[in-house]
Amino acid sequence: MKNIAVLVSGNGTNLQTLIDAAKYDLLGGGELCLVISSEKEAYALKRAAENQIPTAIVEWDKYKPYREAFSAEILRHLTENSIDLVVFAGFRVILDHSVCKTYSDAMINIHPSLVPSFCGEGFYGLKVHEAALEKGVKITGATIHLVNEHCDQGPIILQKSVEVREDDTPEVLQQRVLEEAEHTILPEAVKLFCERRIKVIGNKVFIRHELAD
Ligand code: GRF
Repeated sequence: MKNIAVLVSGNGTNLQTLIDAAKYDLLGGGELCLVISSEKEAYALKRAAENQIPTAIVEWDKYKPYREAFSAEILRHLTENSIDLVVFAGFRVILDHSVCKTYSDAMINIHPSLVPSFCGEGFYGLKVHEAALEKGVKITGATIHLVNEHCDQGPIILQKSVEVREDDTPEVLQQRVLEEAEHTILPEAVKLFCERRIKVIGNKVFIRHELAD
């Protein structure tokens, strides 16, 4: 059994897919134990409360610009709740190295593009999809990767592509990427982690096809 914490800042549709997957026991035995939000008004908090998942609010606005103190508070919640896996699902604050060190190879992030395209600092929210449309790519998608000290550069676990259409707006594309890619590969990646099928060698992730002992 793995204890999972989900870090959020906004709507929480990715959190919702994990909640739904957990109901059907599709998280490889993982349990959603804690949702931490950096925003007190995040709708994701309501989703958690409605499903009896404990929540914590660590408001970035109150800590800004003290990233170390903010990260230490997040780390305190994670360790006090014996968290095994940390899922960044639309969390808008970059944490400092202390969290990466404690949870090395046990933190995953979802990014709404095919990394290494349209990722890194400054690429968040609609900006990712605006950049994809500006470039004229025909295919975009989503990526689940491990979190390390470099923004959006940790080893890639899963990716799924999504077609870009000529009449797409950033909002329409964002929605298609969420529905067709993010909401499929996030629960899948969490399941792989909980079943201990993810093996990291150097900067690459290998996926075991059989269950680990
Ligand atoms: C998603 O597009 C995710 O890839 C990005 O932030 C967005 C969060 O959406 N990191 P939601 O809050 O899960 O609906």
